[in-house]
Amino acid sequence: MCGIIGILGKSDVAPLIVQGLKRLEYRGYDSAGVATISKGNLDRRRAPGKIAALEALLEVRPLSGALGIGHTRWATHGAANETNAHPHATRRVALVHNGIIENFAELRRELIDKGYNFESETDTEVVAQLITYYLEAENMSAKEAFHAALKRVRGAFALAVLFIGEDDLLMGARRGSPLAIGRGDGEMFLGSDAYALAPFTNRVTYLDEGDWTVLTRHSIEIFDASGARVKRPETISSAADQMVDKDGHRHFMSKEIHEQPEVIAHTLSRYLDPATETVGLPKGAFDFASMDRLTISACGTAYYAGLISKYWFESWAGLPVEIDVASELRYRNVPYTKGGGALFVSQSGETADTLAALREARAHGQKIAAVVNVPESSIAREADVIFPMAAGPEIGVASTKAFTCQLTALACVAIAAARARGRIDEAEERRLVRALLEVPRLVAETLKHGAAIEEIAREIAKARDVLYIGRGVNFPLAMEGALKLKEISYIHAEGYAAGELKHGPIALIDKALPVIVIAPHDALYEKTISNMHEVMARGGKALLISDHEGVKTAGDGLWASIEVPTVEPMLAPIVYAAPIQMLAYYTATTKGTDVDQPRNLAKSVTVE
Ligand code: M6R
Repeated sequence: MCGIIGILGKSDVAPLIVQGLKRLEYRGYDSAGVATISKGNLDRRRAPGKIAALEALLEVRPLSGALGIGHTRWATHGAANETNAHPHATRRVALVHNGIIENFAELRRELIDKGYNFESETDTEVVAQLITYYLEAENMSAKEAFHAALKRVRGAFALAVLFIGEDDLLMGARRGSPLAIGRGDGEMFLGSDAYALAPFTNRVTYLDEGDWTVLTRHSIEIFDASGARVKRPETISSAADQMVDKDGHRHFMSKEIHEQPEVIAHTLSRYLDPATETVGLPKGAFDFASMDRLTISACGTAYYAGLISKYWFESWAGLPVEIDVASELRYRNVPYTKGGGALFVSQSGETADTLAALREARAHGQKIAAVVNVPESSIAREADVIFPMAAGPEIGVASTKAFTCQLTALACVAIAAARARGRIDEAEERRLVRALLEVPRLVAETLKHGAAIEEIAREIAKARDVLYIGRGVNFPLAMEGALKLKEISYIHAEGYAAGELKHGPIALIDKALPVIVIAPHDALYEKTISNMHEVMARGGKALLISDHEGVKTAGDGLWASIEVPTVEPMLAPIVYAAPIQMLAYYTATTKGTDVDQPRNLAKSVTVE
């Protein structure tokens, strides 16, 4: 998703802006740009493609000026070319924007009628022209013009604006998309997140929803949507300590896959007391004992984590669960119950659909809980209770360690819910806690299969389509496996409940179609293996992922197998996620795709 940097600095800021933009690269983008003000004059450089293209341009045509804004654009309105790249400029302002201006068409028509000319196809340019109109036609001050424009635009966005002729003025606004202020020593910064600001300062103030800000090098003014002056707390960000490098790995995704034993253990330590073998939850208004229904919602990988947890909440806690992807849930007429709870899962905590679904559930009287990785995020701030996951920053666009940490947190929450509802006794809680405590070690053992999985991936890389099948808790994992492969290798893949195969997808089976069968030796093993034999009987290439017993008893004719350590069956997805992720990773590296920033994808989807 788009990234924003703004700097009121002491000397030329363009190189610092580029440095900040590089830290926002992980969000996904397809063009980048910088604008600076020097002695009151504006100049800008923009380039389609990666930041390297912008750097090359800046080398040939450097920008001077101690005030500037920069942007990485993930195209929504208009192609990823130089004209549509931000900053957008008029004769009075330059502006960068993250999000969508929903009423841009109407505003654009209005401004064209007033004689304003547009050079790009973007929704963003309308805001720059609107501010210009208020400055020129209505003779407003910069502050008044910005506020007037904010009152006219609809949608979810973050903005940073420079005013031509003003060497000590930077404005920003947040509605729906995050924006943070960084305070330096005689310097001021704006950034999409604390990671982007980390090289410059750790003194960070997060704008609240609807806030806008007026910055100079020595002052911060913050206003709420009504225009009233407000105070927001300054926090000391730990993003600098957390800022990551690849730690010897070729890609962030590889590093993040290998971090899983450690971050899963960290997540467990937030919930489990190994001495008493019990689970504890953070305090908050989420009463599982009296809850009659739990609604779970999320997007993408986080949705699959939520779907796996449905099996846990239902079987361990006897709690009815309604689950849907957030983009659907937010527009459905869900008959929420009076005593219901709603649980939202999100790595970034900024996903637009998930946040909207949360607000919808709250409007229907649901208590809100969230499993989020970024504690300062919008979803974390709006939830009644946060169930933490200690994944640390996830930079690769394809979610890996966030997924297994989401699962770990959700498993702990479901066990605590089961105890609160009297559905499991102390002995069962202890057994499950012991099983969870084993998980980091089992994931570490699984990660040792990298070389063998890389061999298999070389074959998968030749396929046009791939099927993943699983049953029970491993059915959502099959869908997650397919999503991972699609995202980073661009191979078409689908995840199916194994029992659904003969209701349609079996027609696809031929010698060229790898079918990845996720089948731990559990109560559903034999049924899944029957489905696998149906595939093999039709010439399909079956790759079995199972434990020792499962591989041993699978019968002849397998194309390949990956042996995973034996794990408590309900917790299998946390361990089986590792081979699924490695398979996608090595398939992508075999194909030579951009693993960490796959085409068209954004790390955090802050637009609808
Ligand atoms: O930040 P979130 O967890 O809310 O993001 C949800 C999805 O956009 C995300 O999981 C996406 O599907 C990933 N690219 C999957 O690898």
